[in-house]
Amino acid sequence: MKPVKIGILGLGTVGGGAVNVLKRNAGEIARRAGREIIVSRASARDLTRTRICDTAHIALSADPFEIVNDPDIDVVVELMGGYEPAKQLVLTAIANGKHVVTANKALIALHGNEIFAEAGKKGVMVLFEAAVAGGIPIIKAIREGLAGNRIEWLAGIINGTGNFILSEMRDKGRDFADVLAEAQALGYAEADPTFDIEGIDAGHKLTILASIAFGIPLQFDKVYTEGITRITRADVEYAEALGYRIKHLGMARKTTQGIELRVHPTLIPKRRLIANVDGVMNAVLVCGDAVGPTLYYGAGAGAEPTASAVVADLVDVVRAMTSDPENRVPHLAFQPDAIVDIPVLPAEAIRTAYYLRLTAEDRPGVLADISRILAAHHISIEALIQKEPLAGQSSVPIIMLTQLTLEKEMNAAIAEIEDLATVSGAVNRIRLETLG
Ligand code: HSE
Repeated sequence: MKPVKIGILGLGTVGGGAVNVLKRNAGEIARRAGREIIVSRASARDLTRTRICDTAHIALSADPFEIVNDPDIDVVVELMGGYEPAKQLVLTAIANGKHVVTANKALIALHGNEIFAEAGKKGVMVLFEAAVAGGIPIIKAIREGLAGNRIEWLAGIINGTGNFILSEMRDKGRDFADVLAEAQALGYAEADPTFDIEGIDAGHKLTILASIAFGIPLQFDKVYTEGITRITRADVEYAEALGYRIKHLGMARKTTQGIELRVHPTLIPKRRLIANVDGVMNAVLVCGDAVGPTLYYGAGAGAEPTASAVVADLVDVVRAMTSDPENRVPHLAFQPDAIVDIPVLPAEAIRTAYYLRLTAEDRPGVLADISRILAAHHISIEALIQKEPLAGQSSVPIIMLTQLTLEKEMNAAIAEIEDLATVSGAVNRIRLETLG
């Protein structure tokens, strides 16, 4: 059979990795796909740059539009990232009848609804396995492997850079900025690393996971997003002392009222497997009503792990190019006319447990005032530590774990606690999930 010609947009970390994997494993890939896959063209902003891959047999161009408009290209692989020109390029490729493989989570989370509608009209595929959790085939697992289940919730460590920073801070006492610089040098971080540390990248990925889990439209604007910048070494140590690890977690849960969509630092019991996922590794726990909890673990960033997902999508595209076009796996797992608009809950409607850290005067009645406020908001204390005052100081750190409560009640209680004359500074709050 005729080889399939692909055009790669972007020859950075992931693009270079994809070229290398396609070349190294060409024989096995062709045996799986049924046809040879040839990287015929590629675009890059700077054609003079040294690359991690050999480009000797690839026609290079600085203009990606040449590739999406080239009638000789069967499949466009978009690995540039960002919203524009990626969106225009993908829409042009679709309009030209080309299948698209992308690793661009920002693009899918924000513009996926429009892109899939256009792809549906043209009968082409848009595959995006590499957009979530790098090399872990989590999209395929939820969309196909768990298709018999009602998904109840999922929770994931889905930003490798953030997890790498938290792990290094905990294990080696390293500084935040120093670890971030290393993640950038290793090619893990986004072009704008605030996307990693402020939870935006994880929010993009959670948006996609929630859509394929619950059959809802992609809606990034409804995700509650909090990053890791306010986590201190003290919080990490107190959490450890209480039997927990702090992880940056994306949570999507279906409740009777709607869907919780949230990304924030979270205390997780140390005994959970997911609490022991360190470094740049990602993990996603998915709980289905039939299967129960299932855990998926692997490298969430980096050249070849992400290329592994890109190439798997290419193999799927090539296999499907010859099969029944009416009977493909739907983009968002559910048939397009079966996508339902279940409401996404506002942050104040979240129900979770909390870790609270505050600084208070070391004198009688202070703890009683704090517990009175919590009780008035129906918040029950699960555990409490009061540390001794630092030399020469009259205030002490107080660390509390609470039982499940409504975020709205916690917001009100924190505001009242911060107003107490005996409490100084802000209350540091980290949400806690037992993931049982
Ligand atoms: N910046 C992302 C991360 C890359 O650190 O997880 C993979 O999407």
